[in-house]
Amino acid sequence: MGVARSTPPSDTGDLWTPDSWRLRPAAQQPTWPDEGALKQVHAKLSGLPPLVFAGEARHLTRSLGQAADGRAFVLQAGDCAESFSEFTADGIRDKLKVILQMAVVLTYGAGLPVVKVGRIAGQFAKPRSSPTEQVGDQVIESFRGHMVNDDLPERSARVPDPSRLVSAYEQSVATLNLLRAFTKGGFADLSQIHAWNQEFVATSTEGRRFESIAEGIDSALRFMDACGINLTGEDTLHQVDFWTSHEALILDYEEALTRRDSLTGDWYDCSAHMLWVGERTRQADGAHVEFLSGVHNPVATKVGPSASEDDVLALCERLNPDRIPGRLTLITRFGVEAIEDHLPGLLRTVGSEGHPVVWMCDPMHGNTFTADGGQKTRRFDDIIGELQTFFRIHRDVGTWPGGVHIELTGDDVTECLGGVEDIVEGQLDQNYTTTCDPRLNGRQALDLAFRIADLLRG
Ligand code: PEP
Ligand code: CO
Repeated sequence: MGVARSTPPSDTGDLWTPDSWRLRPAAQQPTWPDEGALKQVHAKLSGLPPLVFAGEARHLTRSLGQAADGRAFVLQAGDCAESFSEFTADGIRDKLKVILQMAVVLTYGAGLPVVKVGRIAGQFAKPRSSPTEQVGDQVIESFRGHMVNDDLPERSARVPDPSRLVSAYEQSVATLNLLRAFTKGGFADLSQIHAWNQEFVATSTEGRRFESIAEGIDSALRFMDACGINLTGEDTLHQVDFWTSHEALILDYEEALTRRDSLTGDWYDCSAHMLWVGERTRQADGAHVEFLSGVHNPVATKVGPSASEDDVLALCERLNPDRIPGRLTLITRFGVEAIEDHLPGLLRTVGSEGHPVVWMCDPMHGNTFTADGGQKTRRFDDIIGELQTFFRIHRDVGTWPGGVHIELTGDDVTECLGGVEDIVEGQLDQNYTTTCDPRLNGRQALDLAFRIADLLRG
């Protein structure tokens, strides 16, 4: 504190403040029934310690800057929506484990560092296509994520409750604490992660296809060992940097956790290292973009088929006018059918305007449909299909496919169709537990990582 104020990284100049979003239309905000209760929660959160430190966010911006110019690859992954009711140490460990396993495979495939970012420790709010839903003969408010209301299909459960913002903060603190312990305390040991991957390859019906990659990693480890590199003593081989991210949707929460960095005087949203705006809240003149324009964290925006090239350029100007590499990630989520029509032109336009973005592919959200049994699902083959096209288009245009954005869990769920175990529609009900969108299970996620490694190797 007490350091001269620097300008925000946006074109709002001195007008930006953590609450300047309030002057703009804010989509997808709950109607809190008791404004007084919300104000109290806001005051409480504003006085609580930040979850992350500004220096960490700057470190992540630098790492993402490498991904913007082809020197790193990003894996951003986790739940569609974290849950208050399914919150266990084992669940966090298993999710981290599968992300770390994927990251090792991708590191080998890319031959580059993999920046690991979780959709975790704050991913508690969901945008909805309709503010209400029909349950039997009743119309009730839609579920908006455990940060806002409960998913039970009952009128009273759906009433927004601001005390949930504090619960979300507390669960995020506990989650992040465990993540920090796991990633620095030995759980992220490279040889151990490789052993888990070998087990997957040995026990998967299609494992043969992945044997050559697993063999390649194995011989790299043996080579390092033979060179005298201590595989268990070397910090870089048994500790990893793991960053947190979520959709910055509920702006009362994000504002309350925004702090001015005492070293630089800059504002940071200390609820996570990285924040993004979703497909439904990415209006360049809207409240969400206004908020993100002034915080110095690395930020991202989803880009779907309804975004014009001008919309995307306006977002680049609003969110990264100084063209700082790593500041802005564009997460495209067109769907396997539409990517070909949209991505090539967008890559050329953004490139010709000199915007240094990380191009990330979210192959999940453009490929969701409702199965005959009523469950929201996605086909593994569509997910792979969008990724294949993403990598091919980047190669054709001469741009770097900087990363992937995946919804997954370490649990043995049956939410997406296909993959190593070839889950079929009739099996979706066996273990369908997501609070929102369908996630890849641990084995499907690893299967995906091996296939992306193949795509990275060309
Ligand atoms: C999400 O990431 O869960 C999501 C809702 O995505 P999108 O904004 O791209 O629809
Ligand atoms: Co989702």
